[in-house]
Amino acid sequence: METRLTETRELELMQAVQYSSFGKGAAGLEHAEVPIPAPAKDEVLLKLEAASINPLDWKIRKGIWRPVVPRKLPHIPVTDVAGEVVEVGAGVKEFKAGDKVVSILSHVYGGGLAEFAVAKENLTVSRPPQVSAAEGAGLPLAGLTALQALTQVVGINIDGSGPKKSILITAASGGVGHYAVQLAKLGNTHVTATCGTRNIDLVKSLGADEVLDYTTPDGAALRSPSGQTYDAVVDCGTGNIPWSTFEPNLSTNGKVVSLTPNVSAMLTFALKKLTFSKKQLVPMFASIKKEKVNFLVGLVKEGKLKTVIDSKHPLSKAEDAWAKSIDGHATGKIIVEP
Ligand SMILES: NC(=O)c1ccc[n+]([C@@H]2O[C@H](COP(=O)([O-])OP(=O)(O)OC[C@H]3O[C@@H](n4cnc5c(N)ncnc54)[C@H](OP(=O)(O)O)[C@@H]3O)[C@@H](O)[C@H]2O)c1
Repeated sequence: METRLTETRELELMQAVQYSSFGKGAAGLEHAEVPIPAPAKDEVLLKLEAASINPLDWKIRKGIWRPVVPRKLPHIPVTDVAGEVVEVGAGVKEFKAGDKVVSILSHVYGGGLAEFAVAKENLTVSRPPQVSAAEGAGLPLAGLTALQALTQVVGINIDGSGPKKSILITAASGGVGHYAVQLAKLGNTHVTATCGTRNIDLVKSLGADEVLDYTTPDGAALRSPSGQTYDAVVDCGTGNIPWSTFEPNLSTNGKVVSLTPNVSAMLTFALKKLTFSKKQLVPMFASIKKEKVNFLVGLVKEGKLKTVIDSKHPLSKAEDAWAKSIDGHATGKIIVEP
């Protein structure tokens, strides 16, 4: 990666949070002064205003994609950001200095826990004044995952058209789950959602038709109070719910979309396919598309979707944000502000 120089060719520096070794927890995060990156031909340089943490960020630090991601250490983690364009590469057409944007940085190079970052033009979208930096930074991975699960796997039309479907969304108070509830309700759906006791009112306010408290026996069994059987489940939890808990709650052709498929889920997926079962488990991994991020930003602008902010942390305390995400009890999105 190129770095930025002053007119006198001295390196310009910025504050960043990085790690130099793989491992668990927030202890290995280091505060460092590093060179401001320079945008390549197809990139914009952003002065970051907000970055949001996803579980994937700390899972990468645990080494799940090693040695492909990150490509080298030290690595500045986090990919979902919002900021202001301060410089553009020679080939950039859509943006100019001063534009407010939302970007998804590459997982290979990361860069979100810093004062500045470079982003590809083709993974950057404009951010209108109605969408704050924190609201925008929350959207990319979590919002795209919820959107893709609902529209591409479950087959819901976000414009409300199509036959009515009964949907269960688990972990509905989390980053992915809270977007999934709102997006599902833009379609023709009955939404049942699970969350902990303290978040029941919040999840109802996001539009869920009924809410199950996962700390109660009925909630843990995913049993709908009104006797719904689910045409689809979007499992936004950590992948700990076994097929045997989903299965009795599914309608004849019910489908479980697993966002964190473990070995048991992959075996169930294969078994259901091989036996031509009408009830299916579908592992899903988000694909990052600029036009979909643009669509989500547009929904926030129109007031049809909101980012619930769990907490905001200054860059100087980024390790608190990191630890909170690892703890697994975020309500909405955890934001770091440079
Ligand atoms: N496949 C993909 O492409 C993809 C993309 C994004 C995320 N993911 C994965 O999806 C999962 C969720 O991501 P996220 O960003 O939404 O995580 P998150 O924001 O950390 O989710 C935390 C939420 O989960 C809730 N929760 C925990 N245990 C629960 C249970 N048993 N029942 C109901 N709710 C429960 C918590 O509620 P309480 O505080 O009340 O416990 C909290 O609100 C992660 O494993 C992530 O890696 C996959």
